[in-house]
Amino acid sequence: EQIEKGGYDHFMLKEIHEQTNAIVDTYRGRLLADKDIIKMGSVDNNITKFLNAKRIVVVACGTSWHAGLVGEYLFEDLARIPVEVEYASEFRYRNPVIHKDDIVIAISQSGETADTLAAIKLAKANGAFVFGICNVVGSSIARETDSGAYTHAGPEIGVASTKAFTTQITVLSLIALKLGYLKGELSKSDYHNYIQELSIIPSKVEKLLKFDAEIEKIAAIYKDAPNCLYLGRGYNFPVALEGALKLKEISYIHAEGYPAAEMKHGPIALIDESMPVVVIATRKGHYEKVVSNIQEIKSRKGKIIAIVTKGDTQVRDIADHVIEIPDTLEPFTPLLTTIPLQLLSYYIAVMRDCNVDQPRNLAKSVTVE
Ligand code: G6P
Repeated sequence: EQIEKGGYDHFMLKEIHEQTNAIVDTYRGRLLADKDIIKMGSVDNNITKFLNAKRIVVVACGTSWHAGLVGEYLFEDLARIPVEVEYASEFRYRNPVIHKDDIVIAISQSGETADTLAAIKLAKANGAFVFGICNVVGSSIARETDSGAYTHAGPEIGVASTKAFTTQITVLSLIALKLGYLKGELSKSDYHNYIQELSIIPSKVEKLLKFDAEIEKIAAIYKDAPNCLYLGRGYNFPVALEGALKLKEISYIHAEGYPAAEMKHGPIALIDESMPVVVIATRKGHYEKVVSNIQEIKSRKGKIIAIVTKGDTQVRDIADHVIEIPDTLEPFTPLLTTIPLQLLSYYIAVMRDCNVDQPRNLAKSVTVE
């Protein structure tokens, strides 16, 4: 097992560090940056269906559901296709309205999640075209879907999902960009800029991974907190949810993710000097509004850990800690902001002596309801 961990203390840390290469593996042969082309056989072969889709419905569970939420922002923003993101377990029992011209995208790392599989069968029975985004080749979901794209992230052993999440977002980005361009929603130059930027995201992920000592220091300060709040807006709202999920899964600290502006409808009542609040405050994406959310936390003496864009000074002045991410185009910020949140939860869990790779009561793949 030590050999399989490749010199890392845990599979989770190894898999966090593998993200640089995993993202490259995901877009290899698909993102042809030198030609400004996105080539995806499974999308190209069904392009009429994709271009005529009135709606995309994403079904997934857990971290894959969070990736689906990022997908909602991507498809609506870049391709102007309406999206609904459904918990597979709710969708399957809700008597949902499914149209023949809906595209259902099922996202699953393992490809074996029982609820997601059942949701796919229901969607197919109602005539929808079902597209899978899976990591495990030949898995049940990969076989059950009409078509699909693998993430090619390599085996993910740690129960808490990390590289599966960023590679799922990479696949969703590729599809959204391609459809956006073909539908005429993205100009040639926008398309070019997005493709070029996506192609250098792995190098930015790599840079970020070098800051782990900085994040470890922050972890040491907050490792005994009983609660933690995660806030983000826009593309980074799902990242806030995912950050909170990572922390509760492996460190057993109660954590909640919220859209930053919703804070005033509840969570603000919990904020005092003992509450760490992780805020994603990158320069893109409603920056000024997030800054005012941070001020509200500050005035209630909450402890602020802010994820900011490199060079930021405004948030640095108010936050207790800042973690910088390299600048990027807004749709790709989740691929970067996620990384420090994964590391933060990892180090906190290690410091609390938790079983990082196999947290209590959780399974890597939930094959029963
Ligand atoms: C379990 C795992 C999570 C995962 C979820 C969905 O809860 O512990 O890490 O996100 O199932 O799994 P899937 O394989 O469908 O992505």
